[in-house]
Amino acid sequence: MRRAGGSFLLHKPKNFRGLIISFCYTRYMSKLVISGAQPSGILHIGNYFGALKQFVELSKEHETRFFLADLHALTSVQDREVLSRYTLNQVKAYVAIGLDPQKSIIFKQSDIPEVTELAWIFNCITTMPQLMRAHSFKDAEAKSKEINVGLFDYPVLMTADILIHNADIVPVGKDQKQHIEIAREIARKFNNTFEEIFTEPQEHIIESVEIVPGTDGQKMSKSYGNTIPLFATHEEIKKAVMGIPTDSATQEDSKNPDENIIYKIHQLFLDETQKEEVRAKYVNGGMGYKEAKEMCIESVENFIAPIREKYDSISDADARKILDDGKKRIRPIIEERMNLIRKAVGTSI
Ligand code: ADP
Ligand code: TRP
Repeated sequence: MRRAGGSFLLHKPKNFRGLIISFCYTRYMSKLVISGAQPSGILHIGNYFGALKQFVELSKEHETRFFLADLHALTSVQDREVLSRYTLNQVKAYVAIGLDPQKSIIFKQSDIPEVTELAWIFNCITTMPQLMRAHSFKDAEAKSKEINVGLFDYPVLMTADILIHNADIVPVGKDQKQHIEIAREIARKFNNTFEEIFTEPQEHIIESVEIVPGTDGQKMSKSYGNTIPLFATHEEIKKAVMGIPTDSATQEDSKNPDENIIYKIHQLFLDETQKEEVRAKYVNGGMGYKEAKEMCIESVENFIAPIREKYDSISDADARKILDDGKKRIRPIIEERMNLIRKAVGTSI
């Protein structure tokens, strides 16, 4: 019951009663959805099925804002040409998968530097042990990576990204759940310390989508070189799928689809009936890994071909224009919110 502005009628009402229902729905029930992804590499099907697909679905029902987390990407991408290329490509990706820039606000994180000011305010009410528990930090530590302060503070900047909008729902992949929990903790701490101004955001995770495995069986990740890029060419898809390691089972052997990387990737592209058919082929035996891979390649290609075409049709100039428009639309909203926050902490006097 908190969001009045910025909504629109989503379905054409058939009669006056429908019109009233639609009006009440969009005025009072519509939630504010915010999310983003780092332009830190080439998007892959794990990003799509884990997170981006939900962006599109939620944009049909709610007020949505999606950004390119370029400041977060700076924790790992430290080359200006590369960062700007990834950023423009990711804008194209958002549109190619079905986001409508007229409806959703698409913007660049660094176009609202207020998030860094808010992150600083949150830094002052967040403890080191709180951040030392974060998986992103623990993973980097376990791999003995050099950990920059930005990476350590990553969840706090992410909290600022969400709370600056007072978002209700944050669509993310499973591995980001803990970050949203941290955002709730920080919102509570701020509300208790200063003033009750932040809503505690809820993550939106598709439970049925487990972490999508990469072609080597680990989590598919931009940083592991085990991805199927979301806009891969036919050759790239073929190379990636053909490279999936297999065991020594023969063509005749029964195979367990639930422990098979080829199936785990393939099933993402299938409906329930198709899943049953393909599972039966694994379980019944008679299908070799070559055939399994060829079927998988065909399904991936059928899914990627139309979005790849759309992606290729968007120019850098189009992507820049989308970011400029997004910036114009988001800036006044943020300025108003930030003034409220500055008053609450006492930096606006
Ligand atoms: P990456 O690990 O490739 O760098 P990011 O950390 O940028 O991916 O994640 C962007 C979004 O995609 C996040 O919401 C994350 O949860 C989701 N995501 C990333 N990899 C996967 C995966 N393998 N399976 C499911 N979701 C994923
Ligand atoms: N951490 C997210 C990722 O790895 C990106 C991100 C930054 C984000 N800030 C956010 C996601 C705020 C949701 C909300 O892709």
